[in-house]
Amino acid sequence: MPASWDIDTVRAAFPALALTDDGKPRIYLDAPGGTQVPARVVERMSEVMIRSCANDGGPFRTSRDTNRIMADAHSAVAAFLGAQPDEVVFGFNSTSLIFHFSRMLAREWQPGDEIVLTRMDHDGNVGPWLIAAEERGVTVRWLDFDPDTFEYRYDMLDELVGPRTRLVACNHASNIFGTVNDVARIVAAGKAAGAVTMVDAVQSAPHLPIDVAAIGCDLLACSPYKFFGPHAGVMYVAAELRDRLTPLKVRPASFDMPWRHTPGTPSFEAQAGTQAAIQHIAWLGEHCAGFDSAAPLRQRIVAGLEAAGAYEAKLMDRFLERATSIPGLTLYGIASRNRLDARVPTFSFRLANRAPAEIADTLAQENIFAWSGDFYAYEASGRIGLRDKGGVVRLGLSHYTTAAEVDRALEVVAQLAA
Ligand SMILES: Cc1ncc(COP(=O)(O)O)c(C=O)c1O
Repeated sequence: MPASWDIDTVRAAFPALALTDDGKPRIYLDAPGGTQVPARVVERMSEVMIRSCANDGGPFRTSRDTNRIMADAHSAVAAFLGAQPDEVVFGFNSTSLIFHFSRMLAREWQPGDEIVLTRMDHDGNVGPWLIAAEERGVTVRWLDFDPDTFEYRYDMLDELVGPRTRLVACNHASNIFGTVNDVARIVAAGKAAGAVTMVDAVQSAPHLPIDVAAIGCDLLACSPYKFFGPHAGVMYVAAELRDRLTPLKVRPASFDMPWRHTPGTPSFEAQAGTQAAIQHIAWLGEHCAGFDSAAPLRQRIVAGLEAAGAYEAKLMDRFLERATSIPGLTLYGIASRNRLDARVPTFSFRLANRAPAEIADTLAQENIFAWSGDFYAYEASGRIGLRDKGGVVRLGLSHYTTAAEVDRALEVVAQLAA
């Protein structure tokens, strides 16, 4: 099969992309807040709920199905992250998983210990650690970013991380600037000091292949609803940390994985839908990168994300070329068209003459779906001085976005700027 991006076939996989309202097509530029889902995800979830709806662990057919659904979903996420199935935990969302693991980890902290958080993270990878630090009398130290380049101040790491550091939590791709960060470098600094390392991959997972072994982290979170799946969260827990933690589990619950770190009954349908979302990405590797459907799942996933990434790079180039020529538009993120590999297609901006909410409202009137505000990038929006000023407008592209949609959105923005 020839390797080429086939946008019409890719879009046909997503029923929501064909919807119109009052004759106006929908343009979904809200992907960083949550992506659309392929039909296979909806069909799989529906099938599971009709044919296999039961709790796990029983001898009867639907319960045995549920155990298989769980096992398959954990294997699919393991292939997606380069992990082992027994290093994968499902939860409601990334934030609640981070709260859950922070509670277990904080039991190991002593007053006077230190943790390192960053000013670029979504608050889901900040707030839970701040609360745990306060409860344990632990000092919080901050890895800053340069507000001109929108990149971490890696030069600060030596001074920030030391023998008392218990945790280093950082961001893979920013949900406000789109910067892709060198998390392996930050993780290496944390590991050298003996700290637990946590990577928030919520915004990178829809765009880049993730390899937890190459990153070297202990914990990594992502959210299936940002990568074409249902509302859920996923945490990678490296085997060594997984076995060291005293689980927050009720007494009758199994000590085996994943039950040890999955309190209560999970959404089995969300697990099935997540597996289907990963199958969609693998299908991209087959259909658009020429991989055989018999190739290992991980290979097809990586090929699918690389093919999507190459397509998204073309969209980013087009976006940057056009957006940066709009008078009065300030982009908050890497603007160089030579550095597309340093960002994901998430673009935040302001116009000199309009409030961000007004721009989002005008786009909404054109059936163009986009967010304004701070998107819980609480520290980052404060660092650039916009948290209390309406934040920014965010246009997020995906592998299902067309060049014509980018042009249309920027046309509306240009009219507002004029
Ligand atoms: C970078 C980042 N981290 C964490 C989160 C929180 O994810 P969840 O909604 O799954 O808790 C988000 C959500 O937008 C995000 O963009």
